[in-house]
Amino acid sequence: MILYIIDICYLVAVVLFILGIKLMSHPDTARRGNGIALSGMILAIVASFFTPGLNNIILILVAMALGTVGGLYFAKSVKMTAMPQLVSFFNGMGGAAAALIGLVEYGDLPVDEVGKGAVLMASLVIGSISFSGSMIAMGKLQGVIKDIRINKMLGFTILAVAVALAVYIIASGQPQPVLVYVVVLLALVYGLAFVYPIGGADMPVVISLLNSLTGVTAATTGLLYDNKVMLMGGILVGSAGLLLTLLMAKAMNRSVANILFTSFGTAAGGAAAGQTGDQVVKEINQYDSSILLSYAKRVVVVPGYGLAVAQAQHAVHDLEKALEEKGVEVLYGIHPVAGRMPGHMNVLLAESDVPYDKLIEMDDMNEQLPSTDVVMVIGANDVVNPAANDDPSSPIYGMPILEVNKAANVIVIKRSMSSGYAGIENALFFDPKTRMLFGDAKKVLTGLVSEVKNM
Ligand code: TAP
Repeated sequence: MILYIIDICYLVAVVLFILGIKLMSHPDTARRGNGIALSGMILAIVASFFTPGLNNIILILVAMALGTVGGLYFAKSVKMTAMPQLVSFFNGMGGAAAALIGLVEYGDLPVDEVGKGAVLMASLVIGSISFSGSMIAMGKLQGVIKDIRINKMLGFTILAVAVALAVYIIASGQPQPVLVYVVVLLALVYGLAFVYPIGGADMPVVISLLNSLTGVTAATTGLLYDNKVMLMGGILVGSAGLLLTLLMAKAMNRSVANILFTSFGTAAGGAAAGQTGDQVVKEINQYDSSILLSYAKRVVVVPGYGLAVAQAQHAVHDLEKALEEKGVEVLYGIHPVAGRMPGHMNVLLAESDVPYDKLIEMDDMNEQLPSTDVVMVIGANDVVNPAANDDPSSPIYGMPILEVNKAANVIVIKRSMSSGYAGIENALFFDPKTRMLFGDAKKVLTGLVSEVKNM
């Protein structure tokens, strides 16, 4: 009877996960979705405590308490710009947990259980790759680990040996405790070799793929324990991670294979398309910018990574309100890979209560840009670089961009002429319509708010 009740709880938990994910797809309902998925997780955890024969309850509770305190501390203290690192860390922990479970369970598994043996080996190998790969991804995003070129064939050979050994362990029909550790070691080394050579700008895509792998290990662990909520939860994470990987790759106009097997972001950064040495950069000051903005009919803000770095989301919302008081329509053009993680700009602007209907997706915004008086690019660079359309030799050629050079006037707020993540120059800055307003985004925007209010 108790088993039936536990299964029903698990089923309800999975329904809550799916409902939560569905609600997370819109900023207005995302917080509720998160709460609903959380309640599903709490239900699943509580139900699992009633599993007959559960041992070491005190140890489990102590581990959970430590994890909860650590998780709460990191999630509350992490900066928005460091969120991808945190996601990578949490993901790595999931992979490590799956690999450790595999190691512990190996001792108890009868050697003739071929099916379960295969599932266990999959948990070990994929969990170990996910753990070491995620740790390297975290270090690279944090800037403490540099790109290292590793021969692809060497990596594949290590993986092939690990898989061959895993197959041998299952087929041998004998306990092979030493070989199991060798498999884990090889899989850990492969995780390093897999992530080390991948360029920094591609790291969010890799993290999403590793996240998907951790989902797969959760699913295999669920099979191992015959635990339905782990199985279905793992499938949800695995498929969501894979979808996100594909969507991000599409938004960058790259194939996943291209991201995984070539280096990006390491391009030397040649001159921008059509740029010559005698091209001049036109500057504008805060006062003139505020006149241009106040007398515009429509202003479009294009936020990028620099807005997040400067934490200027509240200042930009204040400017939006000041302009609207003067009768100016203010909209935001959102590029799908602006910033450093999926939905980065949406989350940032939602933090300062910018109404969601003002955030216009790239394709819709591109239709409106030719009839826009002023575009204000704030801390964005690659996502507005016309080289993506004009220069076939550019590493970002083919990436869809916000075509801001089609608007009547462009003001670019950034601190210097330095490049964005792709490491290439931007011809937009030399466009006759463009005026550069140099400075930290928060400082500049705060200044603009007072100028506009005083006008
Ligand atoms: P970037 O091209 O990285 O440019 C950001 C700009 O912000 C820099 O040129 C920098 O110029 C400026 N900046 C930095 N700090 C600033 C501050 N305090 N005040 C004002 N400006 C500041 O950003 P983007 O246009 O958002 O493009 C995102 C890049 O990341 C793309 O290459 C994209 O492919 C890549 N990427 C994103 C994702 C996701 S999911 N979002 C995933 C993978 C890759 P200064 O130093 O001169 O100020």
